[in-house]
This record gives sequence, C-alpha cells and structure tokens, in this order.
Amino acid sequence: MVKRALKLAVSGKGGVGKTTVAAGLIKLFAASADTVYAVDADPDACLAAAVGIPEEVARGIRPIIELREVILERSGGEGAFFNLNPRVDDVLETYGHRLGNIRFLRMGGVKGGGTSCYCRENAFLHAVVSSLLLGRNDVVVMDMGAGIEHLSRGTARGVDMMLVVVEPSRASLNTAGLVRGLAGDLGIRRIGIIGNKIRTDREREFVASGFAPEEIMGFVRFDPVLWEGAMAGGNVDDTAAFADLREVYRRIRQVMACRPVN
Ligand SMILES: Nc1ncnc2c1ncn2[C@@H]1O[C@H](COP(=O)(O)OP(=O)(O)OP(=O)(O)O)[C@@H](O)[C@H]1O
Ligand SMILES: [Mg+2]
Repeated sequence: MVKRALKLAVSGKGGVGKTTVAAGLIKLFAASADTVYAVDADPDACLAAAVGIPEEVARGIRPIIELREVILERSGGEGAFFNLNPRVDDVLETYGHRLGNIRFLRMGGVKGGGTSCYCRENAFLHAVVSSLLLGRNDVVVMDMGAGIEHLSRGTARGVDMMLVVVEPSRASLNTAGLVRGLAGDLGIRRIGIIGNKIRTDREREFVASGFAPEEIMGFVRFDPVLWEGAMAGGNVDDTAAFADLREVYRRIRQVMACRPVN
C-alpha cells in the first residue's frame, strides 16, 4: 500500500501524452493505494475515458465549477458578500465518481473574462483544489493540460512533483522549460520529466539532453498499439508503453521515498 500522501500534477505541451501518462499512473497507483484521486483539470481532456469510465457515464459527471447549487450554498447564498473559503471536504466524497480505488473528479475551467463575475465559482474551485492538495492523505494525480492555471502559490505548495511529459521535439522541450519556470515560481520544488513517444536512441538522447539526469523519471516508447487504440478509445493496460510506464511509476515512488517498491 502507498501509505503516504503523494500529490502529482501532469503537464506538458498539447498532444504529448499527458492524459495517457496520467491515466497509466492512476491505474498503477490504484493497484497499490487505498484511494487515488484522478483529477481532470484540463477542460478539454478525456481522462475519464482513459482511466476506464464508460463514455455515457463520463458524460454525466458534472464539473466541479458547474455545481451551482453547492457553490451558492457553500459560499453563503446569492448576496454580494460570499465566503472565500467555503467548506468543501465532503464535495470530494460526494462528487468524486468511484471506480474501484479511483475517485474521478472533473474540475472544469477556471472562469474568467465575460460579463459576469465568477469570483464565487473560482473561490469554490480553489477551495476544492486546496482540499485535494493540502488537506488529504491520499494519492492525487492531476491532469493539468498545457497550462497550470488551476494552481496558485498557495495550493501548488501541496504538489510533491510536477511531472512534465515531453516528446522528442524542440517545441515540447521549450514548453517543458516554461512549465518548469512557472512551477518554480509557484513554489513547486520537484520536476519530473517523462520522455514519451520515443522511437529511437537518438530521440531519447535528445530529450535527455534538455534536463538534469536526476529530473528524468523515465522514457515511454512510441507504441503503435496505443496510437491506433486511441482511435477506438482503446485500453492502455496491456501495451508495451504501459510496461515502460510501470518503470516510470517505480522511479517516481523511489524518488518520493514512498514505501519500498514491490
Ligand atoms: N507512447 C505513446 N505511443 C503512441 N501513442 C501515444 C503515446 N502516448 C500517447 N499517445 C497517443 O497520442 C495522442 C495524444 O495523447 P494524449 O491525449 O494522452 O495527449 P495529451 O497531452 O493529453 O493531449 P492534450 O494536450 O490534447 O490533452 C493519443 O492519441 C494517444 O493515444
Ligand atoms: Mg489531455
């Protein structure tokens, strides 16, 4: 069992494999932890499908930011003044969709711009992220999407490691550099690089050349089965890429000094 809380955020350039990697890690942790929170913090992501929640079920899972009645109730009603720190611990229990050890939560986008003021919604979302990252003694894996807008200086403190998925391209390496900078500004101390879609030693070396060796959590090969399976919404579990991901998982646990790797 993974007894210690471990909070991981997964980021990287569009299309590099964040959702695939996040889902794989969630499944691996779920096999050895009591509860793993799978958090979809990317409004466009399909983490639900990737962890195995059927599409028709996933469609019915409301994003946290859309829980209007709960948001109103917790933030003190319709008035002009509202509670900036609403109580939300139970929201995770109530609205986390259960699939074995996995509790799946969809965040929905941070609201901004437009004509209405979304302060209330955003305060609620912030409270939920805060509760997940700072308040719980569980494993949490957040699929962040390309940006890390759901994190603030306050909540980012709870992230034990920002995983950045990188594919062998200059653009992807550049994005990783930007994410590293942002994460550092927010106070996240550990960065873990995962090279994904690796076809050759040269590609592997290219990715490795962009980072310090201790930052690299491992490499996942380009897997045609995974690539083609995506068209059919296929399962990643028995692909060769998943075997690589298992090594990455072991490395992360080792680095984070969780219980000895079994
Ligand atoms: N190691 C791999 N080998 C082959 N295909 C992969 C691999 N990893 C991911 N893919 C495929 O690449 C595509 C993008 O993966 P994924 O959706 O996980 O990326 P993402 O970074 O989450 O994308 P987005 O930025 O759109 O959220 C998918 O079709 C996925 O199946
Ligand atoms: Mg994604």
